[in-house]
Parts: sequence; C-alpha cells; structure tokens
Amino acid sequence: MLDLLGSLQRSHMCGALRASDAGQTVTLMGWVNRRRDLGNLVFVDLRDRTGIVQIVFDKEADPKLHEKAGNLRAEYVIAVIGRVKLRDAAVVNKNLPTGEIEIVAQELRLLNDSRTPPFSPADEEISNEELRLKYRYIDMRRPQMQSNIALRSRVALAIRNQLTRRGFLEIETPFMTRSTPEGARDYLVPSRVSPGSFYALPQSPQLFKQILMISGFDKYFQIVRCFRDEDLRADRQPEFTQIDLEMSFPRQEQVFEVVEGFLAAAFREAGIELKPPFPRMKYDDAIRQYGSDKPDMRLPEMTDVRQCFAEENLNALTLDPGLPVVAVRIPKVGELSRKERDDNKQLVSVKPGAKLIDDLKRLEKNFPEAVAKLRSACDAGSEDLVVLVGGAPSPEHSEKSRRKAVEAVYVSAGAARLALAQKYKERHKAFERTGSASDYRFLWVTDFPMFEYDDKEGRWNAAHHPFTSPHEEDFDKLLSDPGAVRALAYDVVLNGTELGSGSIRIHRQDIQKKIFNALGMSDEEARSRFGFFLEALEYGTPPHGGIALGLDRIVMILAGADSLREVIPFPKTAKAVDLMVDAPTPVSADQLKELGIAVTKSGDLVIG
Ligand code: AMO
Repeated sequence: MLDLLGSLQRSHMCGALRASDAGQTVTLMGWVNRRRDLGNLVFVDLRDRTGIVQIVFDKEADPKLHEKAGNLRAEYVIAVIGRVKLRDAAVVNKNLPTGEIEIVAQELRLLNDSRTPPFSPADEEISNEELRLKYRYIDMRRPQMQSNIALRSRVALAIRNQLTRRGFLEIETPFMTRSTPEGARDYLVPSRVSPGSFYALPQSPQLFKQILMISGFDKYFQIVRCFRDEDLRADRQPEFTQIDLEMSFPRQEQVFEVVEGFLAAAFREAGIELKPPFPRMKYDDAIRQYGSDKPDMRLPEMTDVRQCFAEENLNALTLDPGLPVVAVRIPKVGELSRKERDDNKQLVSVKPGAKLIDDLKRLEKNFPEAVAKLRSACDAGSEDLVVLVGGAPSPEHSEKSRRKAVEAVYVSAGAARLALAQKYKERHKAFERTGSASDYRFLWVTDFPMFEYDDKEGRWNAAHHPFTSPHEEDFDKLLSDPGAVRALAYDVVLNGTELGSGSIRIHRQDIQKKIFNALGMSDEEARSRFGFFLEALEYGTPPHGGIALGLDRIVMILAGADSLREVIPFPKTAKAVDLMVDAPTPVSADQLKELGIAVTKSGDLVIG
C-alpha cells in the first residue's frame, strides 16, 4: 500500500545535514539507496540529489514503523520525519559528509515503490554501458552523474553570466535552416508544405552569427545545440553544445581575452583558478615541436636532432638527410624488454614516407657519438624513453612534396609521442591530476594554413571554413601559392583536446570571391550554396570575428571523464542511437506519404 504525500513538505536535503543540525526534527524525501536489517534496527541510506543520510528505525521505539521499514526495497521513494542525532564516536562514517549524524525515524511514508532496477545507482562502476544508456534515468541517479550534470549547469551559467556582463547579447538562431559551411554531413528535416524540399539542422550558427554582425549586434553569443552527421568518437556526439560567439571590429587578441575570461569563470566552478593569458603558438611551430595542431603540453616537446648525425650516418640508416630526424622523449619509462619494443612498433603507426627508429641502444653501438649528442640535445635522462622518426629517402622532392614529407615526419613523431605517453602513463606521471591549475595546459594555436590540399579530389579545401580571412600580407598568394597562405584562424587547445576554433572573417566581397575561386568554386556554385549570405555581405559588413567552444568537451575535462557521454544527460551511442527512447525509428506510411517520401526495401529514399 502506498501512502499519500498529503501536505507533507520537505524541510532539508539529505546531503546537507551536519552535526550542527543535531536535535532538529526534519522531513526528508528521496530514494532508498540501501537497506540493512540488523534485527532490532533497520538502517536505510536515503538518497537525494545532494547526497546520502542514514535513517534508523528502532523496533523498541516503534515496532510498526520498524516493520514497515523492513519492507523497503532499493529505489523505493519515501518521506521520513525524524530527529537528527549525533552518532556515537565509534560509528562515525568518515567517508560520508553526513557521517557524524543519523536520523531517528518517527514517521515513514512510502510514496512509491520500484521494480528491481537493472543495476544499482549505489554501485560505483557499471561496466555495461548499453544498459546504462537504456536505463539512463537510473544511471543518472548515480552520484557521479548527478555531480557531472550539476557541474555542467554551473559551468554554463558562469559562462553566460560572464559574457552577459561583458556586453554580449544572447541571441537565438534557427534550427530549421539550410546547409551550413562546417563540412560534415547534414541532418535533414523534410518539409511537408514543400514536398521534396528539406531543411538542414545547423552544424553551427556560423552564417547567422555573421549576419547578426551585419545587423549591428556587435557582440553576440549563444549556448547552442549543433548537429553533425559524422563518425563518432569519445569526444564527438551527433548533437553537441557550442558556446558560440562573434564580435564586430575585433583583433584576434580581443577574442582570446573574452574566451580566457569565461574559461576562468567556468573553471572556478570546479575549484580551479586559471591564470590567463594562455600561451600562444603558431601552427607551424606546433607541428614542428609537437607534431600536432592540438599539442598536449603536459609532455616534453620534440627535438629535431638531424644535426647530431653526420650525413653518412643518415645514409647508413636509410634516412633522408634533407628531412628532419625528430627525437620523441617520454620521461621516466625505464628499461624496455625486446617484446615491449616490438609491441610499441605496432602501436606507433607512422605515415607513408616516415620511418621509426625505436632501439636507441642498438643505434648507440653503431653511432655512439651521434646518440650521445642527441641525448643531450633532447635532455634525455637515463630512465627516459627516446625514439626517433625520420624520413625514408625519396628521389628529388618538389617544393609541395617536400612540405608534405616534412609534415609526415613531424606528424608521425607527434603520434608516436602521444601513443607512447599514453601507454606508459602509469610511469611518467605527466597526466597525473594534482587538483591544481597546473593539470590544465591551455594553448592558443594561431596562423593555421588557409587551405588543405585534397589529394583524392586534386583540389584545395578551406582548412577552417571559406569565410575565414587570410592574413592581409598573404592576399597576393591566394591564387599563386595557396599552400603558403596563412589564415587568421585560431584554436584553443587543452591537454591535447581542441576545445574551440574560430577566426577573423572576411568582410569584403572581393576577397570572398577570391577565396571561392581558390577553392575551385564557380560564382554560380557559391551563389547557389551561400547566395543569401554573399548578398548580405554587400550591405555594409563590419570587420568581424569569433569562435565556438565545445561545452561538452569543457565539462568532460573538468569532470575528469573520458567520454562526452558522461556529461551529456541523454547522449547517443557510437552508432548515433538513443537507446532509451529508441531513436531513430521508421515512421508510418501515412507520415511518409504526407511528406512525399517513399522508402524502398533496401532503405533508399524516393522523393516525389
Ligand atoms: P568547429 O567546427 O571547429 O568550429 O567547432 C567548434 C568546437 O565545437 C566542438 N565540436 C564538437 N563537440 C562534440 N561533438 C562534435 N561532433 C563536435 N564538433 C565540434 C569542438 C570544436 O572545437 N563555426 C565554427 C566556429 C567559428 O568559426 O566561430 C565551428 O563550428 O570543441
């Protein structure tokens, strides 16, 4: 039999009670986390969003109440009226913030019962993630999830407050729109009133925020959902949340300063005091020093040790003397067995044209002088693991293929650096969390290349998006040497994760046209994709720029989680499925008919 709530009102939250509350009568409501029966005493751990408190039901004091408590099961919903009592010193629970007290029950109302849950929210680790996602409402009762979602709320609010205080307006942009320029696949929404036509869900509010600048809104932001149909990974979800902003007349430094300000506010919510400004590094230097455009600064940088070798040494090692020889150092790894070294070779996949030398001991036998020099050049201690990545010799390089070969060496070395650091993370401590600001190594990466060459398609693509402004000094290279054009584009990176990306935009028609030309896009094609925007550019567009950061990624890092699923209440699986609501699903024939859509047996859509 269930009891009624009646006029009963909760007086306190479970997790907030302390020794100073002793003697008070309280009314608590929540879920039965665990029940323990010790003959004359029944103990119930009562849980709400704030934590757990122990309730005691004493048979001698009230046999009926004691019997009722004995029938409680995990996840039943109850209300308890009782008196807060100090625990005897011997039974104080130091692991619980409420561990100095307990509640002596005087009244119990059973507000609802529960089926036996598929797993207990009281368990710390639940290995079956599919089960967690299917029963997400139970999963989210777990203290860890409660704390992650609460953190997310606080972080979003801190950012919103900070931006609002700085004069930014939060302005909403449409979800039902047309394709945006971010380069992933779109999620499409069919139109009933225009059969055969589709809206696209926005991959970002990019063009709308630029149009808001044309409208004179000056400083815009939005904490906004974006949708991208792309291959999913631990740090990618098909719908995710951006902190998106745009400013008129900014220098890139002003965008950085705004972002540093709100990140400091966000991190303060997790008890971390950041010390902006964050260091800055040009893209070319990031590739040279870290082999990555999102360097993890917690590990030592790489060193080009080509100069440590005589040219004939390099020839003997079948390394191209015209390419860098990059030393990757992972501190404090210690002696490795032959087997471990072989395993590492499998782990580190180098790009075509690059070559890994993993056995420094053997190298030392043949080239003792060079190895002594390179050890000193990269500051390697006797416990440190050092591997080298160079380039395999190739016939004459053209300038373009040389750039590529150099990049292949650096990027392979960068990948080796991360893979090995990850493998030996227990030994070298670079990723250890101390709970202080030094755990969080931020970096601004600037001066990205404007274009990337697509070998398969044989053409240039925009590295960020086609509305990014090139460096003014590089305007004249747009058509003659696109590979050398630098963009006013920047990323903010944290511990090897790209948190955000932005740029100063093109505000002039003539430059925008040149960019489309360089991308091999005809005027008609550009007009058909972005005509509304190109037209808007003609009506007095101010210089403007901005950035977007992934809120989910920020919270994931602050929560110490290793997947976005830990900080998104209702996430999707790697196959983009929501296991709880079971989406996506087929729809009824009537619905399809109304939309003018048919689905063939093979799953192909027919529209008409
Ligand atoms: P970009 O595409 O780099 O830039 O996205 C900005 C940031 O959004 C986050 N992000 C994601 N997070 C989770 N899942 C995803 N699938 C996902 N994709 C992106 C990342 C990323 O750094 N319009 C531009 C910004 C601008 O130029 O102002 C844009 O969207 O943290």
